[in-house]
Amino acid sequence: MDFPKKLLIPQKTIFEIGSVSRLAEESLEYGPRGLVVHGNSLEKDGKKERILAHFSSSARVGCFLRAGGEPTLTEIEAVIRKARSARVQWIAGIGGGSTIDLAKAAAGLYNAKEKPVFYQEGGRLVRKGIPFIAVPTTAGTGSEATINSVIINEDKRVKLSIRDESFLARKVILDAGLLKWMPLTPMSYAAMDAFVQAYESYISKNTTWLSENLALKAIDLINRNILPAYESGSEENLSSLLLASYLAGIALASSRLGVIHGIAHPLGVLHDLPHGLICSVCFIPSIKLNRGVIGKKYEIINKILGEDLKDRIEKLLNSLNINSPFKGKRSLEKEKVIEDTLASGSTAANPRRIERGDVEFMLKELF
Ligand SMILES: [Fe+2]
Repeated sequence: MDFPKKLLIPQKTIFEIGSVSRLAEESLEYGPRGLVVHGNSLEKDGKKERILAHFSSSARVGCFLRAGGEPTLTEIEAVIRKARSARVQWIAGIGGGSTIDLAKAAAGLYNAKEKPVFYQEGGRLVRKGIPFIAVPTTAGTGSEATINSVIINEDKRVKLSIRDESFLARKVILDAGLLKWMPLTPMSYAAMDAFVQAYESYISKNTTWLSENLALKAIDLINRNILPAYESGSEENLSSLLLASYLAGIALASSRLGVIHGIAHPLGVLHDLPHGLICSVCFIPSIKLNRGVIGKKYEIINKILGEDLKDRIEKLLNSLNINSPFKGKRSLEKEKVIEDTLASGSTAANPRRIERGDVEFMLKELF
């Protein structure tokens, strides 16, 4: 298949160093009242003030500072409350994947009649939300290019998507200047998440010519820039990672992912560990599981990398100092992890049909 049956991509993508200064002109198109959802990183060195200084005095722009961690249903409700009380006309998310997911869901559910949990459980969204603008400050999740928000349901202790086509960002601002101050550890986790996403969407069962080519470009960019970015963090390296993450996001939006993302969600909730870290350490087990069925694709990836994929990932994890956080620990609620992994939409896209024994194999490799 050359082209996905349906392709949803943001209306406008700006890819330029310093382009965050254009948030004001780009968002005011939707009205003078807006809400900027952001994380702690924007609080430092006057970054937030510099961005907000571009808004005219007639604009009414509020801010919602996130506490950190991965977004929950309760947090979406808090953002929606704040947005509704100011009658905002748009919401922007400036931050990592969690912040983008949170802002996206809040904008998407701004006019919704029911609570967010209703939509997470598959309820239909009738009244669509307000425009959402995504400004990623990490190169990782690709959330700026997708229609879903991954949200923790605290009561059920699951991490599930809320999705609707109307959630897609109207505009995306890719400004690698925002990545410069990022601490090395989260930067490496995020970049490895992007690598995993590119790999899983490339080998996915639902792949198309379009998603394969975007994913391969992302693999090439990440492979060439991840270590230089980790070591020196030049703007060019960071721009390449940011672009790769965005391209992988577009690829996965139509191809979906694979067993790594299927198992990463339950493990992330139960062990309270960063998503990118879990994805990183699931990479090798997934290669071992899938290698026999992906045949030629494995060789194509090797050609791009200039070496064997498994060897390359082992070396990268070593250079980035990423080790399994599970080694020596007890595997918590194994039955729940297996059930959630088998029920996951990501697992369903894995090229090899995943059975119970395959999830058990992955857990054995990780713990
Ligand atoms: Fe991911």
